[in-house]
Amino acid sequence: MANPSLLILAGDGIGPEVMAEVKKLIRWFEAKRGIAFDVSDDLVGGAAYDKSGTPLTDETMARAQAADAVLLGAVGGPKYDVLDFSVKPERGLLRLRKEMDLYANLRPAQCFDALADFSSLKRDIVAGLDIMIVRELTSGVYFGEPRGIFTEGNERVGINTQRYTESEIARVARSAFELARKRNGKVCSMEKANVMESGVLWRQVVQEVHDKEYPDIQLSHMYADNGAMQLVRAPKQFDVIVTDNLFGDVLSDCAAMLTGSLGMLPSASLGAPMANGRPKALYEPVHGSAPDIAGQGKANPIACILSFAMALRYSFDLGVEAARVEQAVEKVLADGLRTADLMGPEGGVPVSTSGMGDAILAALD
Ligand code: NAI
Ligand code: MG
Repeated sequence: MANPSLLILAGDGIGPEVMAEVKKLIRWFEAKRGIAFDVSDDLVGGAAYDKSGTPLTDETMARAQAADAVLLGAVGGPKYDVLDFSVKPERGLLRLRKEMDLYANLRPAQCFDALADFSSLKRDIVAGLDIMIVRELTSGVYFGEPRGIFTEGNERVGINTQRYTESEIARVARSAFELARKRNGKVCSMEKANVMESGVLWRQVVQEVHDKEYPDIQLSHMYADNGAMQLVRAPKQFDVIVTDNLFGDVLSDCAAMLTGSLGMLPSASLGAPMANGRPKALYEPVHGSAPDIAGQGKANPIACILSFAMALRYSFDLGVEAARVEQAVEKVLADGLRTADLMGPEGGVPVSTSGMGDAILAALD
């Protein structure tokens, strides 16, 4: 059988720097564990624009559609600020998300014990936290019609419309239930069914999909405002949270920051299952191209490495290997290794981007 294929789009700024550490990890898996991927590289963002005048060529788009998973670094930079909106680096990323129809955005909030003091919350509230927010990404109030600023009588009125179809709710609910089966079998769905009809439908459809297809999963429902409170009061009560685009935007940023630095946050965006049963998938760190530190060996590669770990777990059914990578990250942090962004008042052993990558490999050994 052919090896699973992985398309790497390193992008701009620190993107290629953090991706270099993931490539070391991929080589490690092949050499030490006999797990091989067909890896290919291509350009996205400013790097693609520099070469071909567009942030994502049709050929790259086709390769992304055909790959078992896409791993992206970051796009953008001040050099491209003058470009027309239609060819800005970010458009490359938006095109990938849109054409691959990646409707489920997975944002974990995981607190490594060694960094628990980085959180704005008390150590025992966040230490050991490991939750996953599944945000619907392609519909809802950011896309619904009518929208715009209109004149009514003698004043202006701004309008956006929250609109969800049954099938849009059902497919993201399935993503959440599938994830829950690979985790702790627990899903909490959040909406505002008390004041929004779209929320009433959301709750009904999630419950129906559960009862029919995933009765083994423990499902609960919560109003999203209470969910926000619970996330900062007692986040460890959750495992998988599934919610709409708007609430998910806010709740995932809130949950992520419970755990500290931007340099630590991975993400995945998943779409419909392909013929081989794997979901369409794009994995990327949450951070951008960090032009202020690019080219200096200062970038923290952990967000990108953990994004690769998510690919192992959710695209390649290598959950055990993913956990090993996460444990290696945990170990180097416990040993006190710190890239600049993780250096707190308590100090630590300063390491560069490649120093952190090498230490994670050594911990895997
Ligand atoms: P950013 O995430 O690139 O940087 C924000 C701050 O966090 C900076 O001080 C940066 O040095 C630091 N930082 C980010 N990642 C880090 C890492 N791995 N290790 C250590 N420190 C890290 O966001 P910013 O500055 O708003 O945007 C810079 C460029 O990136 C812009 O062109 C923006 O459009 C683009 N961008 C791209 C994204 C993507 O590719 N998904 C997401 C966000 C921004
Ligand atoms: Mg946001």
